[in-house]
Amino acid sequence: AKEPVRVLVTGAAGQIGYALVPMIARGVMLGADQPVILHMLDIPPAAEALNGVNMELVDAAFPLLKGVVATTDVVEACTGVNIAIMVGGFPRKEGMERKDVMSKNVSIYKSQASALEKHAAANCKVLVVANPANTNALILKEFAPSIPEKNITCLTRLDHNRALGQVSERLNVQVSDVKNVIIWGNHSSTQYPDVSHATVKTPSGEKPVPALVADDAWLKGEFITTVQQRGAAIIKARKQSSALSAASSACDHIRDWVLGTPEGTWVSMGVYSDGSYNVPAGLIYSFPITCRNGEWTIVKGLSIDDFSRKKLDLTAEELTEEKALAYSCLA
Ligand code: NAI
Repeated sequence: AKEPVRVLVTGAAGQIGYALVPMIARGVMLGADQPVILHMLDIPPAAEALNGVNMELVDAAFPLLKGVVATTDVVEACTGVNIAIMVGGFPRKEGMERKDVMSKNVSIYKSQASALEKHAAANCKVLVVANPANTNALILKEFAPSIPEKNITCLTRLDHNRALGQVSERLNVQVSDVKNVIIWGNHSSTQYPDVSHATVKTPSGEKPVPALVADDAWLKGEFITTVQQRGAAIIKARKQSSALSAASSACDHIRDWVLGTPEGTWVSMGVYSDGSYNVPAGLIYSFPITCRNGEWTIVKGLSIDDFSRKKLDLTAEELTEEKALAYSCLA
């Protein structure tokens, strides 16, 4: 039998946490033959709610779940974890300046980074979900210098899946037949959802999405804004932000990272830029990614037209500004 994998979920008493922990305990993230031990962290005001989640995990009698650590102690939460899903954070409240939110999150990610660096298992893989996700991941790296760059990522898979969903609806095809969309850049409204290289499986072979849609105005307009603003549309409809889709895409992100992407398919992940596609090195930027043997690689050599180039640069500029803001909070 396989040894259990220890998976940390921070902010586990929150909305995404509530959707995510049962998925992990059911094997959605790491496979139906992989036992898991869940580490759940939240802050003292949420301790009682966290205990309630813990009770429900007992009640669900998940066969793969071999143990639970539910705690408000960051060191206890981080000890021995193989995978860390960072969902906890400080939300932007009405009337708050961007800098104030950034400053709160910088201090949270600073302390959690130190705990992970000292207490997590060797080669721990980190996924930052909490916003501003790219920049939180950057801060985490800054304060966990011994965790390699390749082990720190942020979530843009939700945006990637949203783009697949929009193409599928538009073309009236199964979402499982659509692949190779790309989310470039920041997990924010400047992200660039790009279908230039996306394809659909049809009875007569794989066809490029731009040719099938045959509506450049939609692809360069409404498609992009719909994906960029989908989070706001969900809040409007549900009065709460995306949770089940965020949790599901976090599972997709880790599963593909650990178990690999299918041949001929790429996904989107926020990773350390190495300067590929002229994106400034040292930003955490969403790229097209393939994974093998537990390691990700940026897909190289895709053609970038002028329209795309501008969009790639715009979201890189925003990330450069966010980075400067985050570092000014450190000073
Ligand atoms: P939520 O407010 O329901 O839950 C957040 C939880 O984090 C709360 O239980 C809170 O007590 C906890 N928390 C706060 N500070 C903490 C700390 N220092 N350590 C541990 N836990 C802490 O929020 P929700 O809806 O679950 O969203 C979580 C985050 O994910 C937000 O930042 C949200 O913006 C982000 N998000 C990111 C997405 C992405 O695609 N990257 C998609 C959707 C949400």
